[in-house]
Amino acid sequence: MKHLLSLENLSLADMEAILAATVTMKRQRGQPAPQPLAGKTWALIFAKSSTRTRVSFEVGIRELGGNVMFLSAADIQLGRGEPIKDTARVLGRMVHGVVFRTFAQADVEEFARYANIPTINALTDEEHPCQILTDIFTFQERRGPIQGKVVTFVGDGACNVPASWVFAAAKLGFELRIAAPKEFQPPLSLLERAGFQHVHAQGTPSGEVITAQLAATGGKVILTADLPAAATGADLLYTDVWVSMGKEAEAADRIRLLTGYQINQSLVKLAQPDALVMHCLPAYRGKEIDDETFEAHAATIFDEAENRLHTQKAIIAWQVS
Ligand code: CP
Ligand code: NVA
Repeated sequence: MKHLLSLENLSLADMEAILAATVTMKRQRGQPAPQPLAGKTWALIFAKSSTRTRVSFEVGIRELGGNVMFLSAADIQLGRGEPIKDTARVLGRMVHGVVFRTFAQADVEEFARYANIPTINALTDEEHPCQILTDIFTFQERRGPIQGKVVTFVGDGACNVPASWVFAAAKLGFELRIAAPKEFQPPLSLLERAGFQHVHAQGTPSGEVITAQLAATGGKVILTADLPAAATGADLLYTDVWVSMGKEAEAADRIRLLTGYQINQSLVKLAQPDALVMHCLPAYRGKEIDDETFEAHAATIFDEAENRLHTQKAIIAWQVS
């Protein structure tokens, strides 16, 4: 049974197979193509809002020949307290695969354990694996292999999106710099879980810089509050919202603490001349990115959004193969 619950548990071989199959999915869209979901029904269970993930999975499942149903978690008994493991055992007898967006990573994992059908993490508080696979595909379709490149994540470095980037850096062997105030940097335990060794801290005038390396792949992670240093020479500048879903009560504090951690034209000037700018979306202009920079890089950002469809079709085809 193949699940996609995290990048932490996705092997490098499977990651590379999905990325390669995404190229084919994108090229062949609209032409007669294999229908691996013919006669099957998949369910989307979402406990949080979504535009891209919902639409790309609904369209993708149909394009693979399947039927799809959308279930708002609030509208099914799950929302009234029916246990995950009971919901999973019911759906596991009726549908052939599930795409689950929720809060706790443990809930997606429990669902997969009990449902006994292919299950996909469509975002939890801890990871967003479909997004980061798509981002890597998007980078590679423009710039070739990401191995050895420098990716700078700007903003809330402690949320789901940068966590999935950490696992990707460990496996694919690139340098990930997370530029965030100390309280918005991922915990060292996450770097260790990803396999990074030689974690060391160095004091600098602008604070502590943590460096972690994984010799086997060449992967590296740098955690720093020094945004200009993190952006210098980057091949990709990447950001996500300052206030993730579920963190709305902290919005005022987050905006205060993260102000300045923005991708804007002066930051772009520090990166490589051909650096890409990407955003998982939705974007809040004037917060994590300014309008001018967003619009200057809109072609990449909306290719990135479209690529969710192709990547997720490749994920499902891999799961049911
Ligand atoms: N990037 C992303 O997952 O977008 P949605 O929340 O709209 O699905
Ligand atoms: N970190 C964001 C990602 C949105 C796609 C959130 O969890 O809301």
